[in-house]
Amino acid sequence: MVELIYEGKAKRVYRLNDDELIIEFKDEVTALDGLRREAAAGKGRLAAAQTAFFMNYLERNGVRTHFINWDGDRRITVRALRMVPIEVIVRNYAYGSFLRRMPMVKPLTRFSKPLVEFHLKSDELHDPLLTTDDLIEAGLLGREDLQEVINTSLKVNDLLMGLLGMHGLTLLDFKLEFGFSRDGRLLLADELSGDTMRILKEGRHLDKELFRKGASAVDLVKAYAELNTLLGIS
Ligand SMILES: Nc1ncnc2c1ncn2[C@@H]1O[C@H](COP(=O)(O)OP(=O)(O)OP(=O)(O)O)[C@@H](O)[C@H]1O
Ligand SMILES: [Mg+2]
Repeated sequence: MVELIYEGKAKRVYRLNDDELIIEFKDEVTALDGLRREAAAGKGRLAAAQTAFFMNYLERNGVRTHFINWDGDRRITVRALRMVPIEVIVRNYAYGSFLRRMPMVKPLTRFSKPLVEFHLKSDELHDPLLTTDDLIEAGLLGREDLQEVINTSLKVNDLLMGLLGMHGLTLLDFKLEFGFSRDGRLLLADELSGDTMRILKEGRHLDKELFRKGASAVDLVKAYAELNTLLGIS
């Protein structure tokens, strides 16, 4: 049997063997650093399907990812990585925590170019913003690897903006995580779903922002299903 090695708010991680993990997406949704938590039947499968769809699309377009395969339900198999403990956020429009630190900017202002920012992954510290100097000095990433993270994140943004744009969808912002494989390659990891991307359809969120703003878990799952239908995700 596979061994549970980690449980987060959205997913459980199991060790399959030395090189591979299984990530299981929970039928739950949380907000406010986990303070609000609700059962969300069907969400795990929809988010796993989104992650599989976007990771496959990125791989086909030259982005190296941890993704190996989706079981058709709530689990994906991925390459086991040594994770870089940062979250990379790419922003096309002013929203979320950007507006909290820059309240003088009007919500949904389109940036002149995509912004890339880094946060330390730390629930206790509430994922503080890091400068590039901070993360290099702390030894979280080397200078060349940091440049690769930035280049890859911008490439992912171009690819996702293009794909979603073809379906009449707007990508406001999204979060990425990266890790190193045993042979030292930097790979895109974790998930790409409505939990980690803000996507608008005619001004309406098809992402976790709905739940953050007070919608029910049932309505959130409906929005994830709508996104999957629009994108032709099974
Ligand atoms: N390929 C991978 N190899 C190793 N760890 C991974 C890989 N992909 C994702 N992870 C890690 O698996 C975990 C997934 O769990 P989950 O997202 O639920 O929790 P979390 O990110 O730690 O915290 P939160 O509950 O705030 O999301 C994360 O810690 C993520 O960094
Ligand atoms: Mg997470």
